[in-house]
Amino acid sequence: MDGPSPKKVYIKTFGCQMNEYDSGKMVALLSRDGYVRVEDPDQADLILVNTCSVREKPEHKLRSFIGEVKHLREGGAKIGIAGCMAQHAGDALFRRYRKDVDLVFGPDQVPQVRDLVERAATERVLENTFLDAAEYAFVRDVAPDGAGQVTAFVTIQKGCDNKCTFCIVPHTRGAELSRPSGQILEEVRALVAQGVREITLIGQNVNSYGLKVAGELNFAQLLYAVAAVPGVGRIRYTTSHPRDMGADVVQAYRDLPQLTSHLHLPVQSGSDRVLRRMKRFYRRDDYLRLVDDLRAARPDLSLTTDIIVGFPGETDDDFEQTLSLMEAVPFDGAFSFKYSPRPGTPALRMKDTPVPEPVKKERLARYQKRQQELQLASNRALEGRTVDVLVEGPSKWDPAVMCGRTSTFKTLNFPGGTELTGQTVPVQVLRGFTNSLRGERLDA
Ligand code: 5AD
Ligand code: SF4
Repeated sequence: MDGPSPKKVYIKTFGCQMNEYDSGKMVALLSRDGYVRVEDPDQADLILVNTCSVREKPEHKLRSFIGEVKHLREGGAKIGIAGCMAQHAGDALFRRYRKDVDLVFGPDQVPQVRDLVERAATERVLENTFLDAAEYAFVRDVAPDGAGQVTAFVTIQKGCDNKCTFCIVPHTRGAELSRPSGQILEEVRALVAQGVREITLIGQNVNSYGLKVAGELNFAQLLYAVAAVPGVGRIRYTTSHPRDMGADVVQAYRDLPQLTSHLHLPVQSGSDRVLRRMKRFYRRDDYLRLVDDLRAARPDLSLTTDIIVGFPGETDDDFEQTLSLMEAVPFDGAFSFKYSPRPGTPALRMKDTPVPEPVKKERLARYQKRQQELQLASNRALEGRTVDVLVEGPSKWDPAVMCGRTSTFKTLNFPGGTELTGQTVPVQVLRGFTNSLRGERLDA
């Protein structure tokens, strides 16, 4: 082989899409210093763990992950902790892992990862200050190896100004900051030029995009502008807050064929009492009305959601309201969680009786069981129908089976060749399962 062998980076990601995105961005930035990503920490010169603190489990996962890899430092590897947990507990982590970790930095430092890694070669590094609008630079993230990629995330906003009482994000990712639309559109154009077919706009609360910046587009206007970029096949976005979803965005579902027939719209609870105490600022009926409006604009719209069970003071009756809401919508998928008390959040200071762990567990199991039944029914109902699939590539388990997504965000597997990657093809659905569809190409 010519030249020095490349340096190797291993990244473990916990948590949300935002973290997945940050991990990808770190790899892209580090590749400018000659790093390649490896899937085995034993081979790596640099091991990064990108943490999340939205729910409790990731903190336990971090501890066991560090336990597994710390011996690799003896062979010269550097170990770093990045992400949300590094933001809100960076000082404590820096001290706790004094002997095990070289580098701790928050989400705002992701653009500087190359400098931080270089500094970590000679000293331990802790960087977790929030940057304000003047200092923060959204990194343009057209991955150098982005060729061949069918889908891509584009950040439009960082942080969140809401104060949902259960949520730690405002502490870990700071105040909401919208990325200039000019930069967003430039990045979309570059990605499309590389062959990307589907763009997902991401932020914590995308519907409030641009509202705090004089002269900036609002979110609906941004959607129209992205749709106007020639070659954009599909547009998705996440995450939405039901309160901020305006009539102009609903209208976009009538006007923009590029906008996919799927919306992730976290409801959190079906009980007005709980929603009020979560400070979500909408009621159950507002949510259901919004769903009706959206479906009037886009009849085949599929909806997914986030649900929290066992918020402090949640009664059996409150929980029944969540169950009845899921029947009323119904959702095509849901991330459901037991409430987890998070440091520094208002819900922690509420005087309500915490819901006992066994009750939370039982409610979650009931919710998930019913959700799976509803999903299965919704997927079975597609059997025999023909849907357009954007092919993302061969499936993980069989190279002769291609995997793609419907506009409604369902995963569909069908026999086919890799030459289909990046194409949108009509596929007949043969079987609907709980989490995916199986089909057959009509034109094959
Ligand atoms: N406990 C449980 N779930 C939570 N989420 C956010 N904070 C908590 C918490 N403290 C869930 C919400 C949110 C999703 C990203 O994570 O449902 O929409
Ligand atoms: Fe957290 Fe609420 Fe902001 Fe979402 S909208 S990130 S749940 S505070």
